[in-house]
Parts: sequence; structure tokens; C-alpha cells
Amino acid sequence: MKPATLKPIQVGLLGIGTVGSGVFNVLQRNHGEIMRRAGRGIEISMVADLDTARAKTMVGQDVQVVADARAVIANPDIDIVVELIGGYGIARQLVLEAIEAGKHVVTANKALLAVHGTEIFAAASRKGVMVAFEAAVAGGIPIIKSLREGLSANRIEWIAGIINGTTNFILSEMRDKGLDFDVVLEEAQRLGYAEADPTFDIEGVDAAHKVSLMSAMAFGVPVQFDKAYIEGITQLGAQDIKYAEQLGYRIKLLGITKKTAKGIELRVHPSLVPAKRLIANVEGAMNAVMVHGDAVGTTLYYGKGAGSEPTASAVIADLVDIARLHTADAAQRVPHLAFQPDSMSDTPVLPMGDVVTSYYLRLKVADEAGVLAKVTGILAALDISIDAVLQREADEVGGEGSTQTDLIILTHDCVEAKMNEALAQMQALPTVLAPITRIRKEELA
Ligand code: NDP
Ligand code: HSE
Repeated sequence: MKPATLKPIQVGLLGIGTVGSGVFNVLQRNHGEIMRRAGRGIEISMVADLDTARAKTMVGQDVQVVADARAVIANPDIDIVVELIGGYGIARQLVLEAIEAGKHVVTANKALLAVHGTEIFAAASRKGVMVAFEAAVAGGIPIIKSLREGLSANRIEWIAGIINGTTNFILSEMRDKGLDFDVVLEEAQRLGYAEADPTFDIEGVDAAHKVSLMSAMAFGVPVQFDKAYIEGITQLGAQDIKYAEQLGYRIKLLGITKKTAKGIELRVHPSLVPAKRLIANVEGAMNAVMVHGDAVGTTLYYGKGAGSEPTASAVIADLVDIARLHTADAAQRVPHLAFQPDSMSDTPVLPMGDVVTSYYLRLKVADEAGVLAKVTGILAALDISIDAVLQREADEVGGEGSTQTDLIILTHDCVEAKMNEALAQMQALPTVLAPITRIRKEELA
């Protein structure tokens, strides 16, 4: 059938803020090109936003603007509801109500899906509607489609990604320009990258939402955000960024999920990454995701992970998918989480103590004989092998005449529980003068 012969599919937008306005603008601008791909027009005919006056100035006279999102869901002419409000509160209710009303749903809301995904996907399966969420992970990068479709031949072994633009922007600006954390965070908020509550960004929660979704799609397990280990960037010191650089590493906030013989690792934390890896050179608000599959090897996906139009690009790709597929038999569609719902696995998520990785340790120590021997002795007794040691001149660290210095140790792989034991013993030494900094290290080879 020719595109023009099908009536345009009708879309209702809930929330027209940063992402919603991008969706509206890109759909307007690229309407013809998108229609040629979708096989029919995609038309936003109704918008709900709390600020109706602002929304009206954005969308003009031809689009109905309402304050009550439920009016969009109740409209029988709307085929697809796009939720771009955010959060787990009203957004959850509206998404479930839209599904109940038989609407397909598109959302960029990773927080909602990470916490309530199981309930939402089950409701959608019962009703035979699609819930599409390409924009929820890594913004404009089509990583969901890659995991669900492009890599479906593989046993996926691990995923590691820079999946929060705000924190990558902060780390890049701190390293390059020596700017303060707070100054850069404000800039990320101004540019529309940060979450409504930016602690979600800087404490690693947003990245954990995203990696929990990818983990489910990679390994065919439920979305288990509640089991993710989460550590943000607020404790990172400028000196660690500097020392890492001297050792040939960059510090990145990584979301990591890995399948091991014992279970699944699911974790977000700052990580040292060798500076020679492509992913170590991903700067500013850019995102990048590495996926390792047994057949394909390591693949890397790079692009803008946030911002109005990059995120809109992913939302509209979902709209095109739905426009193409909504008349297909529900059982024949790509499953929400890549695996058929009756073929999910119950492989457990490993506690952090069982995770195996290598480490960067920074100890502020008294600059006196025997200190290094005591520290390395503790590591040796626990069978933790040292990869490299860097000791700074006391004068260089604390100024002329200083009696303290920084001792930096890189270790080989060991199980986290053993490292915790070593840290407790080292911390108890009278010559260790401040809390030890521990940053995990990922070779991503
Ligand atoms: P914004 O805060 O910019 O936009 C949200 C909009 O929803 C605002 O216009 C707000 O109105 C409106 N709104 C709030 N409550 C209601 C309600 N009850 N009914 C109708 N409208 C309502 O958020 P973003 O566009 O940045 O984010 C939207 C979603 O996309 C979030 O889930 C976010 O995590 C996700 N996302 C965002 C990205 C980005 O780069 N910004 C990237 C990827 C995902 P008002 O302003 O008047 O309160
Ligand atoms: N706050 C998120 C980020 C937006 O900084 O990456 C994109 O999900």
C-alpha cells in the first residue's frame, strides 16, 4: 500500500519539555522522510502538559493542548501515547492506564522501567500492545535495537558503558579544564542533560537504571535494579583523576553487567579504563556502550546520550516501529526484553563481594621507612597481586617539609571480599593517615 493511502497514526504526547519539544520539532521537520520509512504519516494530534500556555506556543493551533494527561489516554483517536513526563509517580499510573486503554506506549523513562518494568511489560503483554523505550538507554544511540535484534545470534558475555552524559561531562570538564564539580553540574543542568533530581546522575542511580535494563535484555533475566551495586562520582578527588592519567588510565563512570559462571554482575561505579581504549576517549556528554558477544566479539556504540533532539531521534524510531508493526500479531513482535517472556532465566545477580576485578588504591601515608613493606605485606598475605606502585615525593604532595605522601597501588584481579579485608587491615595501620581511596579498574580487553 502506498504511504499516502493509510491514515496517519495518531500520537498523544504526555509532557512537552526538553525531550517532548525535540520529538515535536523533529517530526515536523522530517515528516516526509519519516513517512516514507513508516509507510504512513505519524501525527502528534494531542499534547498534555502542566504549562498549557507554553505548550501552545510550541505546537501551534492545529494540535489540541490539555493540562490533563488522562484526556489524551481517553481520546479514542489516539493510537500511541508517548510518556515524557519522567519519574515513577504519575508516569507509572498514566502508562498503565494507557496500556489498559489499549494504546501502544513509547517512553524515555528509564527510572520508571527499571523499577516498574516487570509490571508494565506484563500489563502490555496481556493487552497485546507494545511498550517501546529506545530513548531510555543512552539517548540517541540505538542500543536497545542492537541488543534486542542486531545481536540476537550471540551469547552476550558482558556490557560496559558510559551511559550517563551528565557525569561524563563533569569528569571531562574537571580533567580538561580543572573546573569545579558544582560549576560543571550547573552547566549540565542548563544544557538539559541532567535529571530533574541531579543526584540520580551524580550518585550513579540513572546509570544503574539503564544498565539494569540492558542486563535484562542481554541475559534474559528480569529487570533487577534493586540488586544493582551503585557508587557515584561525588567522592572522586581531582588528584585521583591526575594519578590515573599518570598511570595511563582515565576515570569513567561505567555501568557494567557481566555473565559469570556464578551469576550476573550488575554494577555502576567510577572505573579506571586504559587511556588507549576508544571508550576512555569518550568525552563531554557523549555516551558509549561496549557489548561483547561470543560470536561477534566486542562491539562499540557511540553517540549523544542526552539532549532534546538526540533523544527525540530514539523516541521517533520507536514511533516508526510501532507504525510498521501495530497491525502484526502480538506474538510475532520482538519481545520487550529481547527474550520470550516464557523463556526468562533466574540466574542470580551476584553480591558485590563476589565480583572479581582489579583495583586502584590511594593511601595517604607517613613518609617513613617500612610503610610500603607493611602495605604490600597485607596484600601478599591475602594473595592479592600488585600490578604497579607509584609513590610521590612528600614535598610534591604536601609542600616543602611535608612528612606525608601518596602511595598509589594498582592490583591484578581479585575478589572484592578479599580486597575489602585488605582495605580494613591497611586502614588500621597507624602509618595510614586518611581513608583509603579505592577505585575499581576495568581493562575491557
Ligand atoms: P522535562 O522536565 O524537560 O519535561 C517534562 C515535561 O512534563 C514538563 O514540560 C512538565 O511540565 C511536564 N509534566 C510534568 N508533570 C506532568 C503531568 N502530570 N501531566 C502533563 N505534563 C506534565 O523532562 P525531559 O524532557 O528532560 O525528560 C522527560 C523524560 O525523558 C524523563 O523520563 C527523562 O529521564 C527522559 N530522558 C531525558 C533525556 C534528556 O536529555 N533530557 C534523555 C533521555 C531520557 P512543567 O515543566 O510545567 O512541570
Ligand atoms: N540525565 C541523563 C544523562 C539523561 O545525563 O545521561 C539521559 O538519560
